[in-house]
Amino acid sequence: MSSAARFVTPGFAGRVIAWQAAHGRHDLPWQQTRDAYRIWLSEVMLQQTQVQTVIPYYARFVARFPTLESLAAAPLATILEMWSGLGYYARARNLHRCAQTLVAERRSFSADPRENAGLPGIGRSTAAAISVFAFARRAAILDGNVKRVLARCFAVEDPVATASAERDLWALAEVLLPASGIEGYTQGLMDLGAAVCRRAKPACEACPLHDICMARRDGRQAELPKRGARKTLPERTRDVLLLTDGRRVLLERQPAIGLWSGLLTLPELSGESVDTLALRHGCRLLGSRKLAPVRHGFSHFRLTLNVLRADVDVIGPGVAEDGRQWLPLVDVDQAALPAPIKKLLRALTA
Ligand code: ADE
Repeated sequence: MSSAARFVTPGFAGRVIAWQAAHGRHDLPWQQTRDAYRIWLSEVMLQQTQVQTVIPYYARFVARFPTLESLAAAPLATILEMWSGLGYYARARNLHRCAQTLVAERRSFSADPRENAGLPGIGRSTAAAISVFAFARRAAILDGNVKRVLARCFAVEDPVATASAERDLWALAEVLLPASGIEGYTQGLMDLGAAVCRRAKPACEACPLHDICMARRDGRQAELPKRGARKTLPERTRDVLLLTDGRRVLLERQPAIGLWSGLLTLPELSGESVDTLALRHGCRLLGSRKLAPVRHGFSHFRLTLNVLRADVDVIGPGVAEDGRQWLPLVDVDQAALPAPIKKLLRALTA
């Protein structure tokens, strides 16, 4: 017997299903289809982004790319541009790779989550969500919201990022699955986590699990789930140039592999003087100054960008450099830029 089985409370799934029917969301755009392609697209967008933000992106993507084939055939740069504003661009790159993999192998998504898990950008939980919503297949999801619901309801003590908590939470997620009504149940868990069992100020009085929730019984909602100690991450520094004529900014497309791959970023300063660099781009330097450093956290390190702002006059066409381009500042919002660069450039026009 699974170690989680001792936690099982009859009626957990029934309560979630009944609550979803009465209080959950029923009119989200991706709930109006059984098309695995669309459901996959929505689930990838929803991995790290909230529903309200995702809705217009989802609509634009399905209008422009109605099929897996059309997405696979699109240039990555177009997909990255359309993704701009959702962040975590690895998702967009994986979306493209996944579509290309499936099309190359002449297949689509399978009803079996084990066959989809492992495709680019599809982990165990996303694979399960596709199987549930596209194929009504009984499968367990475990995203951040669901982890919080389960960790509170069953008082999972280990920090959620630990292997032991992960194992217990998956065991719970599996053992709690209802025999029928998997779609309402799965959507209900998602809706509960988003709307009721929030990290801060959970609305326990509105929760269908409130009388069986161990965190609520013991007043431990603020303590669970435990986060675990933050690791100290290595620091990296880069010197970059913000070259602008007041209307446009000089940017560089990053290569397909490495940090911010495929995105436009500020060119790195590598020894060359700013005057020389400006001249090569057909510009006369008017003045330069250091801006406040820009810090950004990645999963494995922290990055500090030392930004040198150079104001220039454009005097000639300049030497076109590989991957460099002028971006009008009015286009910053739509461009495929890393979040910290976008923020910095927005401040220029503000
Ligand atoms: N978060 C992840 N998947 C979701 C879905 N299908 N509906 C609402 N929120 C979600």
